[in-house]
This record gives sequence, C-alpha cells and structure tokens, in this order.
Amino acid sequence: MAGIMRRLVLSSLQTPSIFSAFRCLSTSNSLLREFVLTEKVGEKKNIGLITLNRPKALNALCDALMKDLSDAIDEFEKDKDIGTIILTGQGKAFAAGADIKEMQNKNFAEVFSGSFLSHWLRVSTCRKPVIAAVNGYALGGGCELAMMCDITFASENAKFGQPEILIGTIPGAGGTQRIIKTAGKSKAMEICLTGDQFTAQEAEKMGLVSKVLPPDQLLPQAIKTAEKISSNSKIIVSMAKEAVNRAYETTLQEGLLCERRLFHASFATEDRAEGMSAFVEKRPPKFQDK
Ligand code: CAA
Repeated sequence: MAGIMRRLVLSSLQTPSIFSAFRCLSTSNSLLREFVLTEKVGEKKNIGLITLNRPKALNALCDALMKDLSDAIDEFEKDKDIGTIILTGQGKAFAAGADIKEMQNKNFAEVFSGSFLSHWLRVSTCRKPVIAAVNGYALGGGCELAMMCDITFASENAKFGQPEILIGTIPGAGGTQRIIKTAGKSKAMEICLTGDQFTAQEAEKMGLVSKVLPPDQLLPQAIKTAEKISSNSKIIVSMAKEAVNRAYETTLQEGLLCERRLFHASFATEDRAEGMSAFVEKRPPKFQDK
C-alpha cells in the first residue's frame, strides 16, 4: 500500500519544473528521485527494487536518469538490510537506450573530453547481486544495462537489440563486448551489424536471459529469486559474484586463481564455519554476515 501511495504521489509530481527545483526529495526510508523509484520489497523487505521511471520516453537513459540510477545503487549498496537489488522499468519498456535527443547535437570533442557514458558503469560495479527484470524494450543502452546485471529475467513480450547502427553509431556501454561472451561471434555480429531486434525467447537461447516469464510473473519470480539469494550469507554471496565475474571479465587462469583465493578467504568468515557445522549437525544454518 505504501508503495502504491508513493507511486501515486510520484506520478502527480512528474513535472520537470517541480523536480528541477528539488531533484531529490527525502522520505522516512528512501529518496524520491525524478527518474528512478526505489522501494524495499519481499517478505523481509530486504530486496531493493529500482524502477526506471520515464515511461513517456520509454525510459530512455538520459544523463539525469543515469545519475538517479547510480544514486539508487549507492543507497541500496550502503543499506545493510538489502541483500539483492532488482532493476526493472515502468510502462512498456525496460529502457529504449541512451537518450537520442540528448546525444543528437553532441560532437566528438564533447563526448571524448567529457568521457561520455563512463558514469554508466555503476550497475556493473555493484558488489551486491543485481537482477534485471526486463519488462519490455531493452534496446541499445537498455540491452547493455540488462547485460551489466548479474541475472536477467525477461517477460514473454520483451524485445532486445543493439540498434545503434541504425542511427549511425555503435554500442558504447558494453554491447559489442558482452553479447559476444554469451552469444558468440556470429550472433553478436548479426545483432550489432543489422540492428535487428530479437525476442525474449531468442535471448534465452543465446544465454543472455536465464528465464522467460509471463508478464505478471516477472516481478514476483525476480523477488522470489532475490529472496533465495538474500537468505544466504551476504559476504559469501559477494565472493561468489566476484569469482563468477572474474571468469566473465578475464582469462581462465586469472579466474581460477581468483576463485581459489576467494574460496580460501571464505574460511576466514564465521558464516563458512556455521554453514558447514549446520550441514554436519543436520540443521538449517544461521548466517550472521560475518
Ligand atoms: N531516446 C530518446 N527518446 C526516445 C528513445 C531514445 N532512445 N526511444 C524512444 N524515445 C521516445 C520517442 O522519441 C517518443 O517520444 P515523443 O512521444 O516525444 O515523440 C517516445 O519515446 C515513444 O517512442 P515511439 O513513439 O518511437 O514508440 P514506438 O512504440 O513507436 O517505438 C521503439 C518504440 C521501437 C523502442 C522506438 O522508440 C525506438 O526505436 N527507439 C530508439 C531505440 C534506439 O535506437 N536505441 C539506441 C539508442 S543509442 C544507445 O543506446 C547508445 C549506447 O550504446 C549507450
């Protein structure tokens, strides 16, 4: 109910004039931002839900929205209660890419000197697990944003693609680099060189998505998975995430060494001792995140 009320208040405040004066409004337990909604969900309210909220522009990723998104990740990363973060979009899009209207008149000197898009990395540097719940279009930067997340679920009607080629540019936030890791060279080339959209089912076949769900099941299933992850030790979850990312981002030898070191490091935690003792004593573990 509180969430619904907040959404109503927010939609009544969706006028640029109000928000340009007060970009962030503080409430008792979270910040209200112009382009991003945050809410604690799940039975234990330990899941951080971030909703991209610029539906009239299909959640196009303008500079201010990306700033709001970074701040929302910061907020949940600092919050000790939050175990997992879910990222989704309001309306018929997850995100239709970088804001083309904002980019239209930029020149090389501006984008190069200003290191345009470099602040887009925040989702990929989050140490807590992030689940993308892709509810509609995930195009260009939207597809790249989904790929920055750790787990991606998609609704049956979601559409993916890297259409930058159709507007005379190329993906700039990991599209050419991350698709190839899961889909292989031929598919990555086809996607980046044609700009064709592809379905959630095709994305699942390529390994870009791990579950395709009916639209009304997307968020409940994402929350269920997030709750499962959050019932484990936060410190060990974070180690497992780091180890998987090492394989994704470096060579096999580097990854294996990192994995072994993190495995060794888990023996410095109380949760590792508790987890193994609980198994031997045939009881559920009581993790303390220590
Ligand atoms: N940037 C800015 N505005 C956008 C946008 C974008 N990426 N995508 C959609 N919008 C706006 C439209 O301009 C339109 O606004 P107005 O009502 O003010 O005209 C509104 O959102 C609704 O869009 P459409 O009327 O086009 O909706 P549709 O249902 O007919 O089509 C769509 C949907 C196929 C997603 C189409 O909007 C589209 O092709 N969008 C652009 C997708 C794209 O090219 N993305 C890549 C951007 S570049 C990038 O992301 C670079 C990078 O790597 C970071």
